[in-house]
Amino acid sequence: MDQDTLKASVAKAAIEYIDVYLQSDAIVGVGTGSTANFFIDSLAEVKQRFMGAVASSDATEERLKAHGIPVYDLNSVDELAVYVDGADEVNESLELIKGGGGALTREKIVASVAKNFVCIVDTTKCVTTLGSFPLPIEVIAMARSAVARRLVGLGGQPVYRENFVTDNGNVILDVHGLAIDAAKEFEQTFNSLVGTVTNGLFALRPADVLLVGTSEGVQEKTASN
Ligand code: A5P
Repeated sequence: MDQDTLKASVAKAAIEYIDVYLQSDAIVGVGTGSTANFFIDSLAEVKQRFMGAVASSDATEERLKAHGIPVYDLNSVDELAVYVDGADEVNESLELIKGGGGALTREKIVASVAKNFVCIVDTTKCVTTLGSFPLPIEVIAMARSAVARRLVGLGGQPVYRENFVTDNGNVILDVHGLAIDAAKEFEQTFNSLVGTVTNGLFALRPADVLLVGTSEGVQEKTASN
């Protein structure tokens, strides 16, 4: 089974999982990336059952609107019952690395507001230790070199993501060479670097449930500690 088939199957399973939240007054938080895109396409099939969505990126907003799903500004929404998004890596505690597509900041904001965070991945994203996937860090452009030097001091190898500007007008450093065994501490440390907007670790607010697309079907997991 190829990766796209696994992504499509887990996206469909997510629709079943969030069925209980699909009420006439419900706003669904929607993530970004290729797995999230499969989710959006499946969500469109039940769009008459809920009020609308909050998008975690301009690309997601565009795709939702193309399907005729109303998109709301997060500032006009009191509460999100559920947020569904992919990830670049996930460990057994449902801590994540996100931001491969550069949408980490808005994703983290939307996840922080949601009561339930459903992460959808194919089996290739599951790891024991986070960090093989380079950790994306969104940085104010003028602080790029200063933050990069601090990251080297912390043992990382930051690489400037060339020709890329985030939806918020900032740049991304992808940090290689990290073995992230204490993700909450790493997340706090990276957040404290002046000039950093957000880092792609989702450990202080991990996923609540993980749906994994495998060739044997979709598995549901909760944090193992
Ligand atoms: C977007 O910035 C990311 O956080 C994505 O959610 C993550 O990269 C997963 O993307 P794919 O579903 O395309 O692998």
